[in-house]
Amino acid sequence: MMEKTDKERKINELIEIAKEVREQAYAPYSNFKVGAVLVTKNGKVFTGVNVENASYGLTNCAERTAIFKAVSEGERDFDTLVVIANTDKPVAPCGACRQVMAEFGNFKVILANTKGDWIETTVQELLPYGFDKSDLEK
Ligand code: THU
Repeated sequence: MMEKTDKERKINELIEIAKEVREQAYAPYSNFKVGAVLVTKNGKVFTGVNVENASYGLTNCAERTAIFKAVSEGERDFDTLVVIANTDKPVAPCGACRQVMAEFGNFKVILANTKGDWIETTVQELLPYGFDKSDLEK
């Protein structure tokens, strides 16, 4: 078998963190736990989980929790976002999260599942033809 590259090792470490934080998800209604890890360009790490609510529509997804934590700590330059759930295929972020990601540019996104599958994509690939701040300048 081929040796893992440094990049793959780093991704696997982040996936492990996401898997651990996923246990903190507050998902009593869906029982669908999601974990996220966001790494900033200057190397800071922010975690997130989904936080549900009896008023279902107020649920906050794991990805947005991680992004909002980072932004509220003064960080806006993101390198990589990892998201994990117990899905057959690597978990697909919802449309709202894709839009929130796109607000902060085009960074790497790792979609993973708890079985060990993962794919690397980007915000641009997840939300082509997205609406963003440049559209407000006209
Ligand atoms: N959820 C996330 O946290 N991230 C995703 O990428 C998909 C969906 C949450 C929202 C809700 O708490 C549960 O998963 C079921 O939709």
